Amino acid sequence: MNLDHDLLQEIKSRADIVDVISSYINVIKKGRRYVAVCPFHDDHNPSMDINKEKQTFHCYVCHHGGDVFTFVADYEKISFVEAVKKVCEIINFDDPRLHKNEFKQAPIDENIDKLYKCITELQKYYVYCMQIQEGEVARNYLASRNIEPEQIEKFGLGYAPKDGRATISHLQQKGFSLKNIEDIGIALVKASGSSDSNAGRLMFPIKNHNDQVVGFSARRLVDDGSAKFVNSPETKIFKKNSLLYNLNNAKQTIKRDGFVYIVEGFMDVFALDTIGINSVVALMGTKMTQNHVAMLKKLNVEVRLCLDGDGPGQMAMMDIMKELDKAQVRYRLVSTPNELRDPDDILKQDGESALKKHVNNLVDSFSFSMNYYSNYAQLENVEDKKRIISNFATFLLNVNSKIERDNYIYKLSKVTGFEYNAIVNYLREVKKYKAQDNGEDNTFVNFGAVETKRVNKSIDKKLRRLLCAEKAVLELMSENLYAVKYYENNIKYFANDIYRQLANFIIDYASQHKNVNVSMIIDNISSGDYANKNELINQLVSLNPPKLNDDDIKTALDEYMGIIQEERNKTYEKSQLSKACVGKSENEKAKLIDDYIKRTNKNA
Ligand code: UTP
Ligand code: MN
Repeated sequence: MNLDHDLLQEIKSRADIVDVISSYINVIKKGRRYVAVCPFHDDHNPSMDINKEKQTFHCYVCHHGGDVFTFVADYEKISFVEAVKKVCEIINFDDPRLHKNEFKQAPIDENIDKLYKCITELQKYYVYCMQIQEGEVARNYLASRNIEPEQIEKFGLGYAPKDGRATISHLQQKGFSLKNIEDIGIALVKASGSSDSNAGRLMFPIKNHNDQVVGFSARRLVDDGSAKFVNSPETKIFKKNSLLYNLNNAKQTIKRDGFVYIVEGFMDVFALDTIGINSVVALMGTKMTQNHVAMLKKLNVEVRLCLDGDGPGQMAMMDIMKELDKAQVRYRLVSTPNELRDPDDILKQDGESALKKHVNNLVDSFSFSMNYYSNYAQLENVEDKKRIISNFATFLLNVNSKIERDNYIYKLSKVTGFEYNAIVNYLREVKKYKAQDNGEDNTFVNFGAVETKRVNKSIDKKLRRLLCAEKAVLELMSENLYAVKYYENNIKYFANDIYRQLANFIIDYASQHKNVNVSMIIDNISSGDYANKNELINQLVSLNPPKLNDDDIKTALDEYMGIIQEERNKTYEKSQLSKACVGKSENEKAKLIDDYIKRTNKNA
């Protein structure tokens, strides 16, 4: 191979080996040395030495070593040329010489290459169809949502014409076979003639980080009761769980900005784009997969979580925090108390400066959790409250500054109702216990707690009611596809963390296999890397779905949905109650609480 020697030198002078390796694995600074647990053998102590002066790495145990390119090639199991390109991507370096022949990759698979060509042609066709007379409906829709012409072009939006057969014949005329067309996932090939299944919809092309179109999301233009978005099915080139929408654009500025915003939807990406933020990607929903986490880790910048302000969005942020913590990804979260909308709605209703202000309300995980527990998931009983404090114990003990720690303890005290001193005493006990035992803090010392006992009693009852309904729905979901769809469309989230996680596993499995199979889901969880694996599996095996016919399942789901909705309304009332109580006298508080209990117990 004949690679440009000067170019390689130039890349190496820009790509610091410590930074590049850090984007893959955890690198530890030891004095002037850098070490890491070697990824090339089963290493338990950091045996790999990274030499910053020489820009090399070497493992003392398995003797694997080399420079920045060999590390990336060996770690990613890719060719040297690919590794060179990868390194350029990581450090955000581009050069005309990189586009010369020797760097052009031969298509690995001609069939795959054909799919890229086919879907690219299709995207161009959709763009064209939006510009002609027929596309007026889509143009008007975008105008009504304040999407600028430059944005339509930047994001490659298009329109799938009503006559879906014309779309298919257009692609055939361009030389693509029906098999190609089927393989890009837009149509079912039928003897009676194939038709574009997205016909009549607004088309969002989804590109991979190399700027290639790999799939589409098709939005309905009128509310006709059909799904709001229809995404391409999994194909050879479309893997939704390892795609972040807009990464192709965002990666040009992420390094420079030092951050990347994570939002839920397409419109939210456009909203941030409107206020000048290019470094933003969308999850296309609320779920962050392990692949997403790995991609974010590699970017090696601050992740800024900015999902919708509603219950599901905020709950998802709580779940995502755990995954990012585990992977040691740096992040902060956008948190505007009492804000229930998504970024796009904030922009549309309150304007640019309101959205700018919103996205800059960044808090750390502790503050976010505190806001969350005071606004969304009311801590319902003493056990819950104790658990929160015990969850934060290690975090608090590691905060060195006393002022900072006090600040956290006050917040915790406000949210849980435990007195400041009770929390401090508890932390002292945990510290002693840890020092003695070096074990986990699973014992709980007694608090001198301030409890609003009467509220808690009524809440215990309603919590049980909510949990029973959620569990019942989960049981139906574990055997029935209709119940899975019902959850996705109507219930959308469970308040209980474990149930919610299990529901997500079931949805994932169902979307890939078009059926539900609990034992396969258990296998998936067992082979995965989940902190609460045992709890998940235990819950899953303890589900006991009733034997019902289809009609009865529908009736049962509607009934459970009713209960869940009622209990959600009550939780909302409870949060209003806490707010109303602020600054009131004891007498007034007692009255408010009495009213509240009367109101919420009516239909319990
Ligand atoms: P939302 O339902 O919040 O939609 O879903 P949105 O982005 O606010 O869209 P508008 O404002 O109603 O037009 C968030 C994201 O989740 C994905 C889409 O990517 C969407 O942008 N999604 C949502 C789906 O893939 N399928 C769906 O049925 C719904
Ligand atoms: Mn929206």
